Amino acid sequence: MATSLPLIPVTRREAPSSTDKGSAYEPLASVWYGEDAELIERLLSFYPRKRPRRILDATVNGGRFWKDSKRPVIGIDIDPRHRPTFVADNTAMPFRDDSFDVIVYDPPHIPNQGKDKSKDFNTRFGLVVRSSKENHYTFTHTFPPFVKETYRVLKAEGILLCKITDYVHHHRYQWAHIEFINAAREAGLTPCDCIVKIRKGPIIDPKWKNAHHSRRQHCYWLIFRKSKKCE
Ligand SMILES: C[S@@+](CC[C@H](N)C(=O)[O-])C[C@H]1O[C@@H](n2cnc3c(N)ncnc32)[C@H](O)[C@@H]1O
Repeated sequence: MATSLPLIPVTRREAPSSTDKGSAYEPLASVWYGEDAELIERLLSFYPRKRPRRILDATVNGGRFWKDSKRPVIGIDIDPRHRPTFVADNTAMPFRDDSFDVIVYDPPHIPNQGKDKSKDFNTRFGLVVRSSKENHYTFTHTFPPFVKETYRVLKAEGILLCKITDYVHHHRYQWAHIEFINAAREAGLTPCDCIVKIRKGPIIDPKWKNAHHSRRQHCYWLIFRKSKKCE
């Protein structure tokens, strides 16, 4: 007779923890309802083979990911207004080969959006960054130079954590997460895992009068390893 496994249901906002009775290890759910900072902490405990000593945030902006973190993090940003550790372009990083155990990447997500004067969305989510017709009004062209540079500065077995969202623009669904995975594979990184992060509600603009696509209420955290294999 087949024995049934003791499955632990993971309910909304409730990820299993090491304190769950009967858990011999700390499972990580593939859906996340909490904040990025908490998730990153979980990812940093889960994927690196040993405790990461050198962590780079390649798009640090205001450093929200590290608000309550005690981890020493080097942050770069191309925009000096965010006062990063180094003002630098993440497609030409001022670091030696094999320098970091982990790189975190949260690029501008949606190009050519209007300015929302009431919120700090513009700088937080890179909404004011433009993309041209030649680049198909997407940021896809920025992925290959970034992942190539990431491959160079990551140590062997190092981890790339990438937050990315698909979006609808120009009446087309833009498959950013697939474009990113393809670019990373091409650069030699192995895609290892994917966590779906759910936000409280979809972003809706009152000026939209018609809907042809579902409204995004999630993004992805993609996990890559500079290795031939994930495990
Ligand atoms: C979505 S924001 C990152 C938000 C950040 N994770 C946080 O939670 O505070 C994207 C950031 O990437 C930066 N950026 C865009 N292109 C860049 C590049 N080529 N090199 C470095 N930083 C870049 C932007 O200036 C912006 O601050």
